Amino acid sequence: MTEPRIAPTADVDPTAKIGAGTVVWHLAQVREDALLGEQCILGRGAYVGPGVRIGDRVKLQNYALVYEPAVLEDGVFIGPAAVLTNDVYPRSTDVGGALKRDGDWSAEGVVVRENASVGARAVILAGRTIGRYALVAAGAVVTRDVPDFALVAGNPARRAGWVGRAGVTLREEAPGRWRCPRTEELYTERDGLLAPGEPS
Ligand SMILES: CC(C)(COP(=O)(O)OP(=O)(O)OC[C@H]1O[C@@H](n2cnc3c(N)ncnc32)[C@H](O)[C@@H]1OP(=O)(O)O)[C@@H](O)C(=O)NCCC(=O)NCCS
Repeated sequence: MTEPRIAPTADVDPTAKIGAGTVVWHLAQVREDALLGEQCILGRGAYVGPGVRIGDRVKLQNYALVYEPAVLEDGVFIGPAAVLTNDVYPRSTDVGGALKRDGDWSAEGVVVRENASVGARAVILAGRTIGRYALVAAGAVVTRDVPDFALVAGNPARRAGWVGRAGVTLREEAPGRWRCPRTEELYTERDGLLAPGEPS
């Protein structure tokens, strides 16, 4: 396995763990105790907060901001300038006017399940979960959990369709029966959720 490749201008805390084959580009910042898996790519200016956990083959595009304690499972894609937030009611100071420090508030992380993608400049509110293989459209503001395979768009983000494992929108060939035009894979919709395979 190849060693991680870290650009000299990247700021990677010595306590962060970076997996084999991972590439960290110029001016990216990886904070203390963050965990990055194997074969990831962190684009220029990407930010990974303290203790954030990132799986294998994850891509963070330029200036993607991942605030702690987010968890990104294997195969996740975070588009350029997307923000995974961690505080629904942010304040710099307490009611007395004193600057809040780390112990004065509790951060809530976003979870992005395996192989999901977040489009450019999308914002995910703290504590929300993006389901497996879901696709968040460019510029969406996600205020609710996103089901597996859902395509969501807009502000607030609403479901606009389904995407398959290949990432393209599925076509409904019969009620509740969806097919991927690229792979021909079949999916079944039941009770507002989608799963791969034939109806049982
Ligand atoms: C959401 C997305 C997947 C839709 O792609 P598509 O299926 O080819 O959709 P179309 O371009 O045919 O548009 C279909 C409708 O959705 C709307 N739409 C497309 N993208 C949208 C977006 N990001 N937010 C809101 N609405 C969007 C279109 O205006 C169109 O609406 P209309 O039917 O009322 O005219 C795509 O536009 C997108 O945002 N992909 C993510 C791109 C990205 O961020 N990549 C990161 C790597 S750089």
